[in-house]
Amino acid sequence: MKRLGCADIREGDSESEVELFGWVNRRRDHGGLIFLDLRDSTGIVQVVIDPNVDGGAHIMAEQVRPEWVIGIKGVVRLRPEGSANDELPTGKVEIHCSQIEILNPAKTPPFAINEDSEVDEYLTMRYRPLYLRRTRMIENFRLRHKVVKFIRDFFDRQDFLEIETPILIKATPEGARDYLVPSRVHPGSFYALPQSPQQLKQLLMVAGFERYFQIARCFRDEDLRADRQPEFTQLDVELSFVDTEDILNLMEQLFAELVAYLKPDSVPVKRFRRMTYHEAMSTYGTDKPDLRYDIPLSDVTHQLAGTEFKVFNQIIAGGGIVKAIVAPGCGDYNRRNIDELNDLVKQYGAGGVVPVGFISDGPFNDATIEEVRSPVSKHLGPETINQLKETLQASSTDLILMVAGSTDIVNAALSGLREEFGKRLGLWSDQQLEFVLVTDFPLLQWDQDRARWESVNHPFTAATDETLALLDTDPGAVVSKGYDLVLNGVEIAGGSIRIHTRELQEKILLLLGHEAEQAEEQFGHLMGMFDYGAPPHGGFACGIDRLVMILAGENTIREVIAFPKTQTGADIFFGAPSIVDKGQLDELNIATRVPEV
Ligand code: AMO
Repeated sequence: MKRLGCADIREGDSESEVELFGWVNRRRDHGGLIFLDLRDSTGIVQVVIDPNVDGGAHIMAEQVRPEWVIGIKGVVRLRPEGSANDELPTGKVEIHCSQIEILNPAKTPPFAINEDSEVDEYLTMRYRPLYLRRTRMIENFRLRHKVVKFIRDFFDRQDFLEIETPILIKATPEGARDYLVPSRVHPGSFYALPQSPQQLKQLLMVAGFERYFQIARCFRDEDLRADRQPEFTQLDVELSFVDTEDILNLMEQLFAELVAYLKPDSVPVKRFRRMTYHEAMSTYGTDKPDLRYDIPLSDVTHQLAGTEFKVFNQIIAGGGIVKAIVAPGCGDYNRRNIDELNDLVKQYGAGGVVPVGFISDGPFNDATIEEVRSPVSKHLGPETINQLKETLQASSTDLILMVAGSTDIVNAALSGLREEFGKRLGLWSDQQLEFVLVTDFPLLQWDQDRARWESVNHPFTAATDETLALLDTDPGAVVSKGYDLVLNGVEIAGGSIRIHTRELQEKILLLLGHEAEQAEEQFGHLMGMFDYGAPPHGGFACGIDRLVMILAGENTIREVIAFPKTQTGADIFFGAPSIVDKGQLDELNIATRVPEV
């Protein structure tokens, strides 16, 4: 007897006897014939139970309900003419059932498992195994498995070693808060869970491994979003004796080959677009541009300086800027539409958005200015409007949207608007994959609140040879040897060439506000090893959850993580975090103080 998965059965199996196990996906009683859709991890096949064939099977089939676990025996037959189902790979066949065994009945599930309907997020977590039972979720994890296996094989082919590093370790700063684990044996002392294996992989380079990778679990106590979880998985990579170009090439090769493997019918892309941080910020207002659609940001400050529109004049005089985007085909937006856009940009701290639409093609003069649809058309004047329309290449059906303010706010607000129009106008599809490598980030940024420099990446990032000397005179102008890989507007990977000498590492730590003693306390183990012949090295890490999320066409990484946490870091299924026994706390010498709410 042949033993196959439900979805493996094809016309070629016709007339063979099969035994299948799975869940009842759907049951249809045609008053005589009963049809069951049987589902297992491979998919679905139709089972027919004829009351005239075997009374026992038919009686069983009358009892079963969706999600009951059953085993069946029967013969594969071609479906009768005209009853094939093109949606199913098994749609041309059905099993004529001779025997049914009920292995386990099931309660009615809290949401439909046999369809991909919307489910309240809480229920997806509270009944996680049932949610994971949905075909789409099983497919997501099949994809995740394929991605990780491909990555392991890729690095194996390239002579990298996969090396595991500890989870109980000392704090490894990556910008977020650490999760701490108390030590019973060393009262009052804590391990920190690694935010990434950053220092460990650098130490493996000092050790001489030269080519390392790991599928590593990372832990960060930070504000959560759709693409952030408190524990997540990275592909972590480090190499010795390489420069930036070697690593960018390796990243391109890895991801291009991965896409070609997963989507053999797609047009192969060998090289990704590259863009400096400044170019990304000025053209897209973000260092994570979604390049599936156009809509660039244009700086129109010069054109708007000196008009009679006081709001812009004041902002420009105060050192602010004005930038614009063109929303294609949105020229007919009404007051309510514009109010929505105003609400959106206000979330980014902007005062509002200034719209300019057109009733005719222009050019406009004082007599035809009424043909410009804008609350400020008269203040701007026909000359400025003609200029704007021409430089932005806006047609009479388009809508120009301008935001004024500080560079940061203008970029953030217009980048938000750009994304909104990308979505609203359906300018992209899930099938598109647009990679872009962003380079030349600043090494440091000034933290106004703490009045000190902060690393843009992490403190182990090296500076470009040309700008290194500026560390002493103009630290904000130093360019890092860091890079990010962005896919469809999501940062999926980041890395850098590292500092590999104690002298430079100490200097950076000092600039970041670490006193020499504190730097030694926190980073002495790494710098101490640099004294013993550390090779030049660099690497990157890729967020596996984010990568798989995009490849699966999902909107949140929770759909590609088996047991994710909620936005507040809670595990609803297990009820973690939870209060623990006083005895356990005593053993750890810990007293807790829960704030009153
Ligand atoms: P970075 O902090 O940029 O770099 O992280 C690398 C990649 O990990 C993913 N990622 C996350 N995914 C889900 N949830 C999170 N909370 C989360 N945080 C980060 C992102 C990101 O691009 N040690 C350095 C790498 C290096 O320099 O080699 C690091 O961890 O996709």
